[in-house]
Amino acid sequence: MKQTVAVTVNGAQREDLVEPRTLLVHYLREVAGLTGTHIGCDTSQCGACTVLLDGRAVKACSVFAVQADGRSVTTVEGLATGSTLHPVQQAFWNEHGLQCGFCTPGFVMAAAHLLDENPSPSDDEIRKGLEGNLCRCTGYANIMRAVRSAAAAMNGGAQSQPAATGSAAQPAAAAGS
Ligand code: FES
Ligand code: FES
Repeated sequence: MKQTVAVTVNGAQREDLVEPRTLLVHYLREVAGLTGTHIGCDTSQCGACTVLLDGRAVKACSVFAVQADGRSVTTVEGLATGSTLHPVQQAFWNEHGLQCGFCTPGFVMAAAHLLDENPSPSDDEIRKGLEGNLCRCTGYANIMRAVRSAAAAMNGGAQSQPAATGSAAQPAAAAGS
């Protein structure tokens, strides 16, 4: 029998009927229509589905939607402020912290949580903070650079400019689509 869940998603309150077995990631993608949260595995290992639940990074494939009842969820679509990217999104763009981009929303959310908890992480702390996220393209060097750059920007430094000059378009995954 379906249950009602009341969830604040990216600042907007909503109520929906869901099966008790519905995973949060399926709720976000199929009910809320927020497809920036990706599904990259069926073993809770890849982290592509990472969202913030009451400000803490969780794998949305390992949480039931009913467990989010009365709570607040932020997805990659909710990170930017209007047309201004979150510093982590901006840093992933600037430092080209992605290859295929499939894992990027999860990395962005995990990095945002990491920097929220630890504004000046060491490289080891960045690696540990992102250990639940896998990039199958193995683009980790630029992801590390992006997180370092985001930390610097969030601590008052300037973010570097994008290395590539070809397109003004922002990567879809970093922007949340
Ligand atoms: Fe959630 Fe892979 S889809 S960890
Ligand atoms: Fe391809 Fe990470 S950029 S899986």
